[in-house]
Order: sequence, then structure tokens, then C-alpha cells
Amino acid sequence: MNVHTPQRPSRNGLDWTRALAFLARERQSFAERNPASAALAAQASKHLLFGVPLHWMNDWGTPFALHVSHARGAEVNDVDGHALVDFCLGDTGAMFGHSPAPVAAALALQATRGYTTMLATADAAAVGHLLAERFGLPFWQFAMSATDANRYMVRWIRAATGRKKLLVFNGCYHGTIEDVFVDLVNGQPAQRDSLLGQVHDLTEHTVVVEFNDLPALEAALQQGDVACVLAEPVMTNIGMVLPEPGFWEAAQALIRHHGALLVMDETHTISTGPGGYARAHGIEADALVLGKPVGGGVPCAVYGMSAGLAARAVKAKQDAPPGHSGIGTTLTGNMLAMAAMRATLGEVMTPDAYAHMLALAERLAGGLRTLIASHGLPWCVTQVGARTEFQFSPTPPRSGGEAEGVLDPELEHLIHLGLLNRGVMITPFHNMMLVCPQTTNDDVAQLLGALDEVLGQIVRQP
Ligand SMILES: Cc1ncc(COP(=O)(O)O)c(C=O)c1O
Repeated sequence: MNVHTPQRPSRNGLDWTRALAFLARERQSFAERNPASAALAAQASKHLLFGVPLHWMNDWGTPFALHVSHARGAEVNDVDGHALVDFCLGDTGAMFGHSPAPVAAALALQATRGYTTMLATADAAAVGHLLAERFGLPFWQFAMSATDANRYMVRWIRAATGRKKLLVFNGCYHGTIEDVFVDLVNGQPAQRDSLLGQVHDLTEHTVVVEFNDLPALEAALQQGDVACVLAEPVMTNIGMVLPEPGFWEAAQALIRHHGALLVMDETHTISTGPGGYARAHGIEADALVLGKPVGGGVPCAVYGMSAGLAARAVKAKQDAPPGHSGIGTTLTGNMLAMAAMRATLGEVMTPDAYAHMLALAERLAGGLRTLIASHGLPWCVTQVGARTEFQFSPTPPRSGGEAEGVLDPELEHLIHLGLLNRGVMITPFHNMMLVCPQTTNDDVAQLLGALDEVLGQIVRQP
């Protein structure tokens, strides 16, 4: 983490001088608590670029990478023997707990029967049925990640509609699908400047407007060249941004009126309930994408479409010359992933599991509000089912632009490190917390207690 001397001692309701002193102590404490992780990090740095399997793993704000020994349910155990209560849950990949028992059993069985053959097993039809029943869309395909599911969905829709443009909301994230990395900068579309190695002009085929801005959406759709709107029903990747009442109803009417299609990326908002946010709120999307937890943490993703879109997609394929479609990968739909999805959809993502998660998340959100008020901080709490977040603003942001304005990565990392040293893990990006079916009341109490302690050391003193 890059810590610079602050211009102003007060920041987001905190005493920044106290905060920096706290940070120095926490970094020291982390180093003392985690000698085995330090040794592994040093070893890994010899041959792993950036010292970690993926460079993002350095984004936790820890002085060196924490190394995990094992994870089960709502607990992660690090190599130095600490049991950490996990509210990050692999940033949603483990939203139903680490190694859910039905998935572990399905994987163990499948492990003795082959992993990949480029052919379907009996799990394929069963998973298709479970998906159609749960999400109300009749036709499905698979991918190895939500990124790829989004990429393929957009390809199918462009092929099916003959339109080239994609519309996204400012500040969105849908994985590393290239097309979405266009932001509004001073009201103008601009390619995200942090992208590495991107040589195409993404602004050519991507239109971007602010979330909750119906006039801007209408103006963009009026051009008549937008193939689809790709959106999370609630923005979750720039801090959370909730749709305003009536937004999706009106947006959907506009999208239909202008002949575009709506793709809901429910990869994070599946936290809402068993059928995702769209189903729970009566949004009738033409297509849906879900990755991360759909295989209980095993790499895989799904995308589904309406009968109308499916018919157009099939026709596009039939009309195309033989050869590569540009859609798919060799391991997609492999036997291990299909077994994992069947177990997850059939036995893990159950109404009972959600009932527990939602009740506990309510409790967490309520506890956070009380805690924030008790420290007199101008912060708010946003919740989407099992997903809860506190944001450094007195009221929830209404757009991606507003949400970006209240992010404070330095402060986030400081809080996350303080929590980690107190046995609690939350996501390294903004302040998101997920609860899983194995999370307990005591876990929530531990998180609130740890946060109380951290805030007590950094708030302004009277
Ligand atoms: C809404 C959404 N869609 C897609 C993705 C991409 O998921 P993956 O990185 O597993 O491909 C993410 C990742 O955070 C996401 O938040």
C-alpha cells in the first residue's frame, strides 16, 4: 500500500494522523503474527510474477501476501494457524461457504469417473432443468468464468440482432470482458486508462451512461444501434448503487421500445435470493449471466436466454459459415464443473440457506448502522440480501460516478488490515461483507466487535 503524508488531518470523519499511526502498528502486528506467510511470500516471489498467482492478490493492503492453509464453511485458516472468520468468501465465489458438503461429495464421486471428455454426462440435462426452473429462462449454455459468460452472451446477442453496440453503466465491472471498460470522464466516454495491452478503441462499440439516469439511457437507445444493455441489477463493483424505485421498470420499457435486449449479470446480486435480484423484483430480462458461486466455488459459469433470443441465436449459428464461432473453450461444460453445478443448484442454493443468510445479513447491517452512529461517522450502510457494505458517505450513492467519488482505498485497506489482525476477513475491494449458510451470530458479533475496536483507534477524539 502506498501511504503518503495526508494534506488534511481529518478525512471521512477520522483523525488521519491517528489513523496513520494505527496503520504502522497494524503492519508491524501483521508481520509478527504471520511469519510462515512471510516465508512463503518470499519463496513465491522467486518464480511468481509479483510473488502471487494473480497480481490482484497483492491488493489486500497487507505488507505481504497472507497464505491460506485451508478453508471450510465460513472459516479460512492461514498457514500461521489463525482461524479467520471469512466475510469475503472469495469475493462471492464461496458465497455458499467453503467446500459445501454436497459439492465436495459430488466432486469426490466425479473425481473417480473422469474430469473432461468434451461430451455431456447425465448432469447436463439436470442442470439445464434446475437453471430454467430457478431463473425462468428456457435455454442455457456454460462457460468457465463469469467473464467468459458475459463475453459469449454479448457475442450471441450481436450475432442474433445484427447490432454492434453494447450499453453499460458508468463504473460497472463484468469481469475482464474488454468491451465494458469504458467510463464517463467529464461526461464523455473514455477507455479506462488502467487497461494493459488494449489496442482496440473500445469507445467505438460501447456506449456508457450513468446508472439511474433514465433520460441519458433513452437518448443513447434512441440511436437504434444498441444490441443490448449489460447490467448488474444493483451495481456492486464500485461500491453498491441501488436502483431508484421504478428505475428498472422504466429502463426495461425503454430498452424494449428501442429494440435492444437486456442482460442481467447476477454474478454478485444472486445474494438477493434463490432466483437472483431480477426474479425477486419482477425484472424480465432477455438473458442472465451467473458465475462465481454457481459451482460452489468450482470454476464455471452459466448464461441463459429467452425463447425469442434463443431462436435468433440458433438462426445466427445456422446462417454462419462453418468454422470457429469465437464462443467457447475446451474445458467448458466439463464433467467436474457440471457435477459441481448440479450439487450446488440442487442442494446448496436452497431457500433454507438463503433464509439464514438474509436474516443474518439484516442483523449485520443493523449492527453496522448502530456502530457507525455510535462513532459519529458520516457513513451509510447498503444491503442486497446476503451482501452488505458500508460506504464513506452519509447517504447511498445514486450512480457509479457518485460511488467512485466516495471510495477511499487507503482507508479501506487500513480498516481491512485492522480487521484481519483481529481474526476477521472482509473483501479487499471497498467494504463488502457476505454471509454464508455457515456464518453464525457469533461471527457477526466478532466482526462488529473488531470494527468497533478499529474505529475507536482512528476516529477524531473530542
Ligand atoms: C458482476 C460481475 N460479473 C462478472 C464478474 C467476473 O467474474 P470472474 O472474475 O469470475 O470472471 C465479476 C467479478 O467480480 C462481477 O462482479
